[in-house]
Amino acid sequence: MPSFMEPFRIKAVEPIPFPTEEERRDALAAAGYNLFRVPARRITIDLLTDSGTAAMSAAQWAALMAGDESYAGARSFERFEAIVRELTGFSEVLPVHQGRAGERILLGNVLGLGDISVSNTHFDSTRASVEAAGAEAVDLPVPAYEGMPNPFGGDLDLGALAELLTGRSGRRIRCVVLTVTNNANGGQPVSLLNIAGARKLCDQHGIPLFLDASRFAENAYLITEREAGYADSTPREVARAMFDLADGCWASLKKDGMANIGGLIALRDRELADRCAEQVIATEGFPTYGGLAGRDLDALAQGLLEVTEPDYLRYRAESTRWFGEQLSLAGLPVLQPTGCHAVYVDAGLLLDHIPPHELPATAFANELYLAGGVRVCELGTLVFGKRAPDGGPDIPAPRELVRFALPRRVYTASHLEYVVDVAEEVRSKAAQLRGYRIERQGGALRQFTAMLRPV
Ligand code: F0G
Repeated sequence: MPSFMEPFRIKAVEPIPFPTEEERRDALAAAGYNLFRVPARRITIDLLTDSGTAAMSAAQWAALMAGDESYAGARSFERFEAIVRELTGFSEVLPVHQGRAGERILLGNVLGLGDISVSNTHFDSTRASVEAAGAEAVDLPVPAYEGMPNPFGGDLDLGALAELLTGRSGRRIRCVVLTVTNNANGGQPVSLLNIAGARKLCDQHGIPLFLDASRFAENAYLITEREAGYADSTPREVARAMFDLADGCWASLKKDGMANIGGLIALRDRELADRCAEQVIATEGFPTYGGLAGRDLDALAQGLLEVTEPDYLRYRAESTRWFGEQLSLAGLPVLQPTGCHAVYVDAGLLLDHIPPHELPATAFANELYLAGGVRVCELGTLVFGKRAPDGGPDIPAPRELVRFALPRRVYTASHLEYVVDVAEEVRSKAAQLRGYRIERQGGALRQFTAMLRPV
């Protein structure tokens, strides 16, 4: 029996598809063996991402009706702004249509040619925004899983940052970004101690510290569980302490906004916010709606209240932990400790007979689909590998990870038990699995469109 109980009951239901084995085989082949290209009507359980996939609450659906669709100065914006200000303490609030718009606009204003942005790990769209500004994205994560599991495997390596700041390229560093939680590094949290350490270094060198706050509530909850001195704090109090240490943030509200679209930029610096607002006008919309409908802002305002509820966050962390334990008991190499938004499995350990350039993580992910219509996300050489300059085999990613992301409030324990059964079946035939070759691929972010062929 699961060790947790969902703290909600179901009011609206959506049937899930059960494609036959043959339909799954045909769908995957037609998709060029790339799960991003498989239509959702051919997916039974979709753990591709926790982004934009949340189930809204009754209160959020009700809030939609209160949406004010005025072009300028809508009441929906006033409600959204008030809740974001209270949550973060940042006075300047700009809605945008999703996270990457926030990154592009804020980083585009802070960074220029030859500058450096340092992060615990830039998410792939963040890195793309840094590079689009002509700057360099430097990742300095602490080792998350070497030897012993690290409760704060999302932290930034402060020693390495200090060294970089005082070194030859120190003057090129224009900002430090902490991604909370660290999605590209196992979904691990960043400690308040680490944020405070980064703050101190930023102060010494006069550079701003920004949070990529897409999963701020999950980070705050994990701090109450894991960091000494915060067991009695509420997730909201911890979230505020995180924001208090930063100069500003952006967020994809498709995650901890608990809604299906949205993002924001929030800052203390009025002058920087004004410059960002100009770009919001040029590319998103008037600054009081930023590419969203008024009703979206109302759903988000309510979502930002619900996401910091202790009962919800306890369930979120416990259900993910339980799911990770079940996968582990089924013999899968699960990264420890699990965070909140996903369970990561090291497919490289399971399929060590497949060389990285034949994409073992993709082989594992595709087999989960073939075996049971389960869709997960590969985070191995297809995503993080690099093409060899001489046209030889790809330079492998550090790990062949597969992410089982958990949409918020969407799947119950019995859905997750089904996924564990499917994963166990795939594990039992791991030795027979074959890899894939890339037949066609684009430039950056090739994972979304690549066409593959089984070896
Ligand atoms: N920052 C982080 C940490 C993210 O995980 C994402 C998106 C973004 C920024 C960009 O936000 O999608 O709203 O433009 N992550 C999704 C994922 C896509 O599946 O992890 P966006």
